[in-house]
Amino acid sequence: MNYSAEDFARLFGIAPTALPAECLDLIKSADFNYEQPAPAKRDEIILGVMKHVDSDQPTQVGAQRSELWERCWSENLQNFVTSEFELEKLVPKFIKPGQPIRLNQQYVMPRNPAFELAFFQVCRAYYGLKYFAQAKSLHEFGCGTGFNLVALGKLMPHLQLHGLDWSPSACEMVNLIGKHHDLHITGTRFDFFAPDATLPITADSAVMTMVALEQTGPRNGAFIDFLLAKRPLICLHMEPLLDLYDENNLVDYLAARYHRKRGYLSGLLPRLRELAAAGKIEILETRRMFFGSLYHEGYSFVVWRPL
Ligand SMILES: C[S@@+](CC[C@H](N)C(=O)[O-])C[C@H]1O[C@@H](n2cnc3c(N)ncnc32)[C@H](O)[C@@H]1O
Repeated sequence: MNYSAEDFARLFGIAPTALPAECLDLIKSADFNYEQPAPAKRDEIILGVMKHVDSDQPTQVGAQRSELWERCWSENLQNFVTSEFELEKLVPKFIKPGQPIRLNQQYVMPRNPAFELAFFQVCRAYYGLKYFAQAKSLHEFGCGTGFNLVALGKLMPHLQLHGLDWSPSACEMVNLIGKHHDLHITGTRFDFFAPDATLPITADSAVMTMVALEQTGPRNGAFIDFLLAKRPLICLHMEPLLDLYDENNLVDYLAARYHRKRGYLSGLLPRLRELAAAGKIEILETRRMFFGSLYHEGYSFVVWRPL
């Protein structure tokens, strides 16, 4: 089976002819073939996921993990410097190649070990072009290596790029990208748990988080308050959204169990819906990609703007 341009268009809720050329190029250049596993293989995958969720391997996210992230990004920073600032070295290690993935509420076996990364790149390009083209600057909070900003900056060179993260090594990596590549990009320290009210965000700034706000668990309120006070043009969160799983489906149910075990993001959608009902924000789109890694779906979108 092949995940085609028509499948991506259906996923985004548009006609295939409305897919931007940049997305079509990404789709054409990647191998999106996959197979449904045979029953015995499917059982093996499910058992493996259940054993992992029940083990003590999945650790809880939260404020206690700052040193762990710093260690992770300082190693990545070393590799980036040693490679003489090759942008390919910015692909984070948590996108694990060569694993079964989840697609349309099933586990499937991709032929291409980099299927997950390639699929995510198409979604990132589509939503970036759709929502950030009118902005002057793009701020990614919890930016890690900055690889999302680099990709979106190449698609939209007019954007001033700002990477924010609590890890000093992540910020240093982002500043080095700006020094060694032809991109307007800077890195600054920022903590979701204690947002810096003096940070310059203006009415023409776009804001995004990508699998980063997940790390705050239920403690995302301070960041949303910060955004409400700053009133940027648009806010996009690509995060695991527990509320969008159908827990009557086995594959979704296991993702929800994994999500809860790790203590990932909770309460964001209900809060945004309350704010929308009170006329304080407009929710422009909430969409599930029906796609994810072995353990859960990190690629759901909610896009909103302050009113
Ligand atoms: C899973 S990574 C995602 C990185 C990047 N957005 C990406 O897509 O590759 C989560 C990121 O959130 C950052 N992070 C976690 N908790 C944070 C906090 N309280 N404040 C700021 N950044 C945080 C981590 O340092 C890490 O860079």
